[in-house]
Amino acid sequence: MSKLVIEGGVPLCGVVEIQGAKNSILPIIAATLLADDECEISNFPDIGDTHIALEILKALGANSTIHTNSIIVNAAGAYGTEIPDDLMRKMRSSLMFLGAILSKNRRARVSLPGGCDIGTRPVDLHIGALKEMGVVFSEAHGYMECEAKNISPADIVLTYPSVGATENIMLAAAKANGVTTIKNAAKEPEIVDLQNFINAMGGKIRGAGGSEIIITGVKNLHGVKYSVIPDRIVLSTYMCAVAATRGNAVFKNVNTSHVSSVLAALSKAGCKIYDLKDTVALECDRLNAINSLMSMPYPGFPTDAGSPFVAMMAGAAGTTLFVETIFENRFRYVGELLRMGAKIKTEGRAAVIEGQKKLYGAPVEACDLRGGAALVVAALAAEGITSVSHAEFIERGYEHIESVLTELGARIKYEKDV
Ligand code: EPZ
Repeated sequence: MSKLVIEGGVPLCGVVEIQGAKNSILPIIAATLLADDECEISNFPDIGDTHIALEILKALGANSTIHTNSIIVNAAGAYGTEIPDDLMRKMRSSLMFLGAILSKNRRARVSLPGGCDIGTRPVDLHIGALKEMGVVFSEAHGYMECEAKNISPADIVLTYPSVGATENIMLAAAKANGVTTIKNAAKEPEIVDLQNFINAMGGKIRGAGGSEIIITGVKNLHGVKYSVIPDRIVLSTYMCAVAATRGNAVFKNVNTSHVSSVLAALSKAGCKIYDLKDTVALECDRLNAINSLMSMPYPGFPTDAGSPFVAMMAGAAGTTLFVETIFENRFRYVGELLRMGAKIKTEGRAAVIEGQKKLYGAPVEACDLRGGAALVVAALAAEGITSVSHAEFIERGYEHIESVLTELGARIKYEKDV
């Protein structure tokens, strides 16, 4: 167990270099299973989830080495078909390996995935799509056994634009014998990044970023050097932290077109934003409530940025309504914010945030990745000392958060319990 101890009330000022995107690199690590030789991936975020993904690759028989800011993976001889239960439980996106393992071996054995407890998170869309591609599933003793004579191309219509299901189909179809289409595909920038990575390996995918993706299977994919996109949720979180402390900062290594909805919400709340496309600056003297904000699939306001945004608005002038439409259990951190003097009422998927002049430090507990990040945002703005326990949830997605925030002037210490 680890802990972040924060003495709040210091306006954050300075320059932040944004890490590579967690939700891009995870499916890209799975995609290395499809390559015939070595891949070098840069802008690698050194976070808990990428280490779990590399452990999965190792369990399947691949070699990887981590360098400063990059990894080299050779998964050509990785013909393993089973993801160990403990790794599967640690991270929901382990499910992403299923499409790639099936493409490579025509069979796989996985237990049902774990990950952050932010809702029921079913996997019916993944399974339904893979069934349409000829995969037969059976369940016994907590494991899913999956087998296919061939991965067949298919015309798949998703009933919801699931990010993970879209990525799994792309991975399964990249080397199938024919053309697969996905209608109502997820449009997130991480889907475009996966398309670009597979195409750089010699794949033939088009349409990512729109609602229809067309995947023409190819026989072979080769190794490649590739750099993943910047993490739009980490950027959104640090922007909320700077605004919550009424600071000003410059963020480098960003793609502002990926965060248009977040920038619009921050501007509406009174932040001054200077958008230079691959760099963005934020300045905040005063935060006003905004009437309402709703999370939506991309290009809407991202569910993952909802928690830090709510924490920021806990210290704004006036009342804001935030509605979470993607996951049903994303407000667990709100109870912890109440311990810090926040006035927030939740009812189902809605949170009514009555902004307070002052939040104060308290012992709080992170219960998922983004909820943990929300507590850090509130702690930075609060008067006094906050200890955020179970910081290991935060380390799953934020690279060296204590050093980044220290650079911005925060008084923050990282403590590891032995
Ligand atoms: C991805 O999760 C991200 N994870 C999540 O990031 C993110 O919150 C989410 O997309 C939405 O943007 C990764 O990319 C690794 P979904 P994923 O499938 O793929 C329902 C973070 O904090 N659904 O688009 O799991 C599901 O229950 C995280 O970085 C089904 O009903 O999201 C949810 O309500 C957490 N059946 C909705 O769709 C299915 O088979 C969206 O899920 C699949 C999903």
